[in-house]
Amino acid sequence: MMNTYTAAPDIEVLTSSFPIPGYGVVPINSFVLKGPEPLLVDTGAAVQREEFMQALRSVIDPADLRWLWLTHTDFDHIGSLHQLLQENPRLRVITTFLGVGIMGLSDPLPLDRVHFVNPGEKITVGNRTLTAVKPPVFDNPSTTGFHDDRSGALFSSDCFGALLQQVPQNAADISDRDLRDGQVFWATVDSPWLHKVDRGALAAELNGIRRMAPTMVLSSHLPAAPGHMVERLLESLAVAPGSQPFVGPNQAAFEEMLKQMTAAAATA
Ligand SMILES: [Fe+2]
Ligand SMILES: [Fe+2]
Repeated sequence: MMNTYTAAPDIEVLTSSFPIPGYGVVPINSFVLKGPEPLLVDTGAAVQREEFMQALRSVIDPADLRWLWLTHTDFDHIGSLHQLLQENPRLRVITTFLGVGIMGLSDPLPLDRVHFVNPGEKITVGNRTLTAVKPPVFDNPSTTGFHDDRSGALFSSDCFGALLQQVPQNAADISDRDLRDGQVFWATVDSPWLHKVDRGALAAELNGIRRMAPTMVLSSHLPAAPGHMVERLLESLAVAPGSQPFVGPNQAAFEEMLKQMTAAAATA
């Protein structure tokens, strides 16, 4: 089930909630940036292709898209990628050498349809200049987010995601505690290397985002977060390395979960 909402003038969010049994839900977001050269950021989960295309069509005609910013090649970001390339011959994919390389192992990107932008480099799309950013926390080496000069928003890919119990449309509606716990959980699940990181090096990375002072943080896995929340978002990541490392259920716990799911299905 996918929903859409408007995060800022000319920025639409396409969102679904992916359940993690026994833990909560993680939002999966893609974004449409409207303007003279409309841009889509990521293409939803592979298991939700039809719902994604339906949600996309409700906010823009996919034939009008000029650019697709692929933040990275994970399955929750590439769902409708090839369908969109087939339907819209003008669509170009903004990615990196590594993004093309990883896609080449399963579903190669046509090389005449890609446009490389490395962290620190800029690209102008219509009335926006986008500066590519390597987020402080990521789960895939091809990860590239960006800052949009027109809205001031940071598109942070998986960074700043959170496990939640409910998913509002504005991260400001999440309590401080739920936000911090949810962010720490997600960060330690998605980026377990955080436990080994040098705290000073992480702090320097987080400072880079602080200096950027985005007007809004648009993470792939958090409701839209206004700029006044940036400090809270950064603090959650700063404490993540000292938190309990995530260990998934073992076989006995998994069998218990299956039993409970079967019993719940039988009484439903
Ligand atoms: Fe990812
Ligand atoms: Fe993701």
